[in-house]
Amino acid sequence: MTQEFQALFGPGEPVAADAPGRVNLIGEHTDYNGGFVLPTAIPQRTRVLLAPRPDDTVRAASTSIATEISVEHYRLGAETSGRGWLDYVQGVTQVARAAGFSFAGFDALISSDVPIGSGLSSSAALEVALLRALRSAFGLAIDDVQIARLGQRAENQFVGAQCGIMDQMAASLADEHTALFLDARTLDYQRVSLPVDADLVVINSGVAHDHAAGDYNIRRAECERASRTLGVSQLRDLDSAELRRLDVLPEPLRRRARHVVSENERVLAAVQAIRRNDLPQLGRLFYDSHQSMRDDYEVSVKEIDLIVELARADTEIYGARLTGGGFGGSVVMLAHAGTGSKAARRIARAYADRSGRSPTVLVPAV
Ligand code: GLA
Repeated sequence: MTQEFQALFGPGEPVAADAPGRVNLIGEHTDYNGGFVLPTAIPQRTRVLLAPRPDDTVRAASTSIATEISVEHYRLGAETSGRGWLDYVQGVTQVARAAGFSFAGFDALISSDVPIGSGLSSSAALEVALLRALRSAFGLAIDDVQIARLGQRAENQFVGAQCGIMDQMAASLADEHTALFLDARTLDYQRVSLPVDADLVVINSGVAHDHAAGDYNIRRAECERASRTLGVSQLRDLDSAELRRLDVLPEPLRRRARHVVSENERVLAAVQAIRRNDLPQLGRLFYDSHQSMRDDYEVSVKEIDLIVELARADTEIYGARLTGGGFGGSVVMLAHAGTGSKAARRIARAYADRSGRSPTVLVPAV
């Protein structure tokens, strides 16, 4: 990649940084409600090569978007949204400078094997990889949690996606061997070892979503309306013993709130199940989570439901669910140890036959 960098931007030794995509095991649409999540890093990563410039111009190119690489540019302080993938770069430089970090212009080459629009946080991986590259090129005094917060701010304030903090925390702090059990309100986290007796499986449905396109922001606004009506600061403040309180809410707010309250408890139960190595219970929690996302939160699509049903019919699978924001994307599953690769391929093939879509098995990586 250094050669490619030099061919585009001229001689010079760029710094290199990267960050992983993530798969959320359980705890969906809970983060912006102040609740719990349990993501882990996937092997697919976004890489950034970056070299400072003597002026305040940013030149950036991405190898992942088109076959022909084109170099985009803008001036620091003159960030303007509406430029596709460059918005993530512009968003990062704008919010980082507004937060008081000082750096000059730079040349950056981005490459990634985290599929876009697949519910695996390609955007957070880009934000975090870029902030890591800026940290090392300009000696910025910024820690991993601050990096996550800036990445989220770039999405919220510049890109226009009102996402929570899960994805950036996962890209900044998660690894492939543990799950990050995160309290999205306090940002306290613990690393929970992934079960050794199970294989993680991630299948991308081939149906892409677009968070900024509205549905996600609508769900978030519905939750805020629900918590205002209930007189709590966030839906996190309710537990299932108080489900009757939700009856005052009009539909669909009642169903939305029921998903958040029950999903939060499923995260806590899932952490217990992992610690007890109770994989059948963990699998049931996956299926329950999926059902809640499909029926109460209404963020699934028929293709994703089909993959989950194929998983349910497969004796090697403990559990499966839609992962990420929804409206397309990927399914995460837990398979009996040693069976993950074969089961994933079997399910992906059956899904392709029945849906006409082109799925990809991302985990286990080949
Ligand atoms: C997207 C958002 C996250 C989170 C998930 C749903 O990935 O970026 O903050 O809300 O959706 O759990």
